[in-house]
Amino acid sequence: MSRKDMVIFMLKANWIKVKENLGDVCPIFERKFTLRGKVKSATLRVTARGVYMAEINGKRVGDFILAPGWTVYEKRIQVQTYDVTHLLQNENNLHIHTAKGWYLGRICGAGNWNRNSLAENRECAVIAELNINYTDGTSELIGTDSDWSVAESKLRFCDLYDGEIYDASFTPEFKYHTVVADNNDFSVLVPQQGEKVIEQERIKPVALIHTPKGETVIDFGQNLTGYLEISLNAHKGEAVEFSFAEILDKDGNFYNGNYRSAKALYSYTCKEGEQTHKPTLTFYGFRYVRIDKFPQRDFALEQFTAIVLHSEMKRTGKIETSDPMLNQLFSNIIWGQKGNFLDVPTDCPQRDERLGWTGDAQVFVKTASYNFDVQRFFTKWLTDMSLSQGEDGRVPAVIPNVLSENDAGGAAWSDAVTICPWQMYLTYGDTDILKQMFPAMKKYVDYITSVTTTPYLWTGNWQYSDWLELDNNAKPGEVITKGNTSEELLATAFYAYSALLVCKAGAVLGEDVEEYKALYQNIVSAFKNTFKDDFKTQTEHVLALHFGLTDHPKEVTKSLVEKIHSDGDMLKTGFVGTPYLLHALSENGESELAYKILLRKDYPSWLYPITKGATTMWEHWDGFKPNGEIWSDAMNSYNHYAYGAVADWMYGVAAGINTVESAPGFEEILFKPTPTDEIDSFCAEIESKYGKISSRWWHEDGIVKYEITTPSPAKAIINGKKYNLIAGVYRF
Ligand code: BGC
Repeated sequence: MSRKDMVIFMLKANWIKVKENLGDVCPIFERKFTLRGKVKSATLRVTARGVYMAEINGKRVGDFILAPGWTVYEKRIQVQTYDVTHLLQNENNLHIHTAKGWYLGRICGAGNWNRNSLAENRECAVIAELNINYTDGTSELIGTDSDWSVAESKLRFCDLYDGEIYDASFTPEFKYHTVVADNNDFSVLVPQQGEKVIEQERIKPVALIHTPKGETVIDFGQNLTGYLEISLNAHKGEAVEFSFAEILDKDGNFYNGNYRSAKALYSYTCKEGEQTHKPTLTFYGFRYVRIDKFPQRDFALEQFTAIVLHSEMKRTGKIETSDPMLNQLFSNIIWGQKGNFLDVPTDCPQRDERLGWTGDAQVFVKTASYNFDVQRFFTKWLTDMSLSQGEDGRVPAVIPNVLSENDAGGAAWSDAVTICPWQMYLTYGDTDILKQMFPAMKKYVDYITSVTTTPYLWTGNWQYSDWLELDNNAKPGEVITKGNTSEELLATAFYAYSALLVCKAGAVLGEDVEEYKALYQNIVSAFKNTFKDDFKTQTEHVLALHFGLTDHPKEVTKSLVEKIHSDGDMLKTGFVGTPYLLHALSENGESELAYKILLRKDYPSWLYPITKGATTMWEHWDGFKPNGEIWSDAMNSYNHYAYGAVADWMYGVAAGINTVESAPGFEEILFKPTPTDEIDSFCAEIESKYGKISSRWWHEDGIVKYEITTPSPAKAIINGKKYNLIAGVYRF
């Protein structure tokens, strides 16, 4: 972000904080004012260190949940601008409710796994400016200053991991004071860049379960991210308490051990009479809600609603096949994206993590960009990535970085800095983001060159490896996160790939990339000379094939196929190898084996979780083991989108809809469907900026038929024959 964009547009406001110490209780900042005349227009600009919800005269301002979103707060905090003309009356009350959010909460606090204690030096603060234009041509500015007062709110406690404690019977009193915050820095204020998070769907329960342990549990039928709305009739002081879970254990009992230290509280004290409540400054990942305390014994399921939250993104992609399990897989992938695209792309939405893991986002970005329009969403996150990049070019593993200050990420994680902008270019034809990120892309490749201990290979750094790879030496019951794939091989493959993407981006932007072309060639040669096609794991084969790091693709494919057969025709790849496995096979004439792996139903496979009732993607292929046991509590999310990256193979290879590098954004399309006898029909659709693209094939009278819709010029390769198409619908 250039200095030019960092507008200081607060004219008459300071960052203010509460003078007194309110402990865990969330403050409400208040300013009362009387209008001087008839209002023509009024605008509120506001942001917070923490998360906030503004209200004027008791009515919510805007619909952005968890504003101002999550950015690299030391460098930039987004400011939201709302038209509030319709909310004003003669006498007014402006309230700003705040909670810790990503700024001060446990997510960036001490005591969490591997967390830098960022929260220790931070304090909750708000800054706002109301600009009123009167019909007589005069105007008035009301900004945050020490005239504002503060009350303890009904929200007695609120944290993203730990949920909320809310007392509806409490009456806030505005008896506390404000002072200018210690950090009154305006240079961090930037206009809203990302998509806002909003309430997207309301879901009703599908069942009320009485578990063997005697628990009363509501089932929403879908693992989701959001919060619970309740309506009830109660007496003042009566208690309501819920617990949240993604799964029931093998005996059908409520289980949320996998939330680790995230308390995910929902504790509500009633006021008198009819009431409705939903949290708004925190969120939960759940399918099941256990009723721990509820005053009404004869309640009805209609009293409970799950509200789904995610960033605003237009749905653009659809896959529908004749196979119900594949359709469920696609639904799980979509829900994985909904659940984890909450202002930043997170690994998971439920346990004490919920971080912008670069590796996960990188493997999923292509699928994400077909499923939904995520151009603006990624532009914001990538901007934070470039702001988080170290002086030496290192890219931390999570963005915004809450790990150690000098976190250096790792291969396939930090490479998000080259892979994600390149995908934005391919899917949307976005050269702006490529231009914006190009310096960061180069700097990252230079960083690897500067730290590696062996020229043209990437050696010497700590690596995540092929995270959760099944090709490992774990003894029964032992948890191993890194598999047998050579770290140096994997890291060098990504070093080559990122150097290549710098060359490609440079060519698009008209930059001189001769140096990187030479570097790329040298890395490729070093890879070939060092590893000599001697690949042990599936992932090693896959990376060499998919990244073009072998001179003998036929032999390497043969060796991969043999390895897969000897592994029992199942995948053994982890986070890094899995997204490329089917591609490596189908690019090398082994599509039938790719389909076999895709359609496998036994553990480990994409369809196995569906046999266990999954409604989202799991972090582990064996989140539930075949015997019903649950994988260790240690790291076991049931809403982790990474393995959902297989949808890019479903769009691009199975249905055969592909971008063309020289005319990106589907200005031109390459159709190359790959039918199989194992599936009766397969259809994918992508809404591009040129219009709807679709590709469908089905079996009819013993032959395969195709129907293709193209809104822009397309090349099609159908049964080995090449066609040049103009916009239209074609049947083959
Ligand atoms: C996260 C992953 C992430 C990984 C990196 C995990 O705890 O949930 O998705 O990529 O750590 O090691």
